[in-house]
Amino acid sequence: MDTSVSSSSGRRLAGPRGLPVLGSFFPMLSEPLALANKLHARYGDVSLIRVYKTPIAFLRNPVDVKRVLIDEPQTFPKPLIDNPFNGNGLTVSRGDHWKRQRHMVQPLFHKEKVRLWSGIFSEELAKSVERWKEMGARGESFDMYTEGARLMFGVMWRTCFEEQPEIAYFDRIMDAIDVFGRRVSPLSVLLYNLMPRMDPRHERVYTSVKLINGWIYERIGKRRGRGTEDGDITLLSMLVEAKARDSGESMNDKEVRDEIVNLFGASFEMIATSLTWAIHACTQHPEVTQAIRDEVQGVTGGAPPRYEDVAKMPYTNRVVQEINRLCPPAWTILRETASEVEVGGVMLPKGTQLLLCPYAIHRHPDHWKDAETFDPDRFLPERLTGMHKGAYVPFGAGSRICVGQHMSLVDTVQTLAAVLQQLDVEYLGKTPVEWQTRLTFVPKHGMPVRMRARQG
Ligand code: HEM
Repeated sequence: MDTSVSSSSGRRLAGPRGLPVLGSFFPMLSEPLALANKLHARYGDVSLIRVYKTPIAFLRNPVDVKRVLIDEPQTFPKPLIDNPFNGNGLTVSRGDHWKRQRHMVQPLFHKEKVRLWSGIFSEELAKSVERWKEMGARGESFDMYTEGARLMFGVMWRTCFEEQPEIAYFDRIMDAIDVFGRRVSPLSVLLYNLMPRMDPRHERVYTSVKLINGWIYERIGKRRGRGTEDGDITLLSMLVEAKARDSGESMNDKEVRDEIVNLFGASFEMIATSLTWAIHACTQHPEVTQAIRDEVQGVTGGAPPRYEDVAKMPYTNRVVQEINRLCPPAWTILRETASEVEVGGVMLPKGTQLLLCPYAIHRHPDHWKDAETFDPDRFLPERLTGMHKGAYVPFGAGSRICVGQHMSLVDTVQTLAAVLQQLDVEYLGKTPVEWQTRLTFVPKHGMPVRMRARQG
């Protein structure tokens, strides 16, 4: 049965009524993006459901997306997301605290900083490529997503703390992210706050968070004990030394911890996801693989690609942009209405949770022709003129746009270039690939691949 809501313009907005009391709780819990796609197909650009008493609106029209993310951030703030993993770090903080922290963290991801860290990235990438080559020589396959996440986690850990991470660190952080990603974020407002103790994994997360906090506080303490050292370019040092713009104050230990955990939570899985889908797309489009190989050869002459080479490889960059359109790693961006407000011709009550799903936005029929077709040349500069600001938002938009956008694009392009330059990749899973939403938009059964050294 459908439900209808009056709009100020007289239009009727419909969405499924769902179960008594629970509303659409189960479809939201099981696969919210599938629900969003279904609702957009049936009800158009704005649709409304309820989970318990909470109204939830799905928006996919770039005009509404731009308004929500860019034009009126005060009317559509980020909802309260309260969990022990994220604390009050940048991805979840709000108001004055967010503003203060954003001014301190954002400069750490400017191009010159990413370039400073690029040596670490190139070293870790070379080790991974060698490892994948050796596995291939033994006839072994692996899951691209897990390997990509391990690579990017190692890069982040070394960037932050200089040292190599222990494997236990990766497992614990993946576990905590997995539980929050699957069950809590980004539906935390609805699910975590309503029934936090019902899931047996709850205690496991608290144990993981305690351990993670122990590792991080220990390193913050040591860093403060050492004082400033010349040539120390670790992310940890930069966070410890960052000064608030107005007061000139630095962060306390809890604030540094929160930012580190948020940066880890927001980064390595996202990049791994983008890389996974990009590698898969290349296995399905040999002409794309060949074009990347030709470009890399022309730029590096056979040497492994470096940070400086990435800007010289426009085609490979377009492949990554297109994959972030078709398979956007961040599958939803959450906001809420601060007061009763009209969106897309529909009056939404105060406290409505807004779900903006890049997957649906990037397929909007008025803005993307043949949206399901993988076509990197959509991102040729001449074809980008006139693109609506709300039509392509893999990294969000407006004041809360991703701070790691440059780092992500560079790392993904460099990895894709290095892999295809040195390895032949074979996809071993089913087609089409089934997906699911966890913290990121991932292949449901992993992405099994085998890589072998290229001959000649
Ligand atoms: C392919 C990779 C990535 C994707 C697709 C991605 C996507 C996003 C999106 C969509 C947002 C906006 C969320 C919102 O408006 O509510 C965001 C925010 C954020 N991202 Fe990323 N991200 C990626 C990589 C990274 C990396 C590498 C870092 C850091 C090392 C990072 C750090 C952050 C932070 C701290 C925020 C919160 C910014 C704020 O609210 O002020 N992300 N990201």
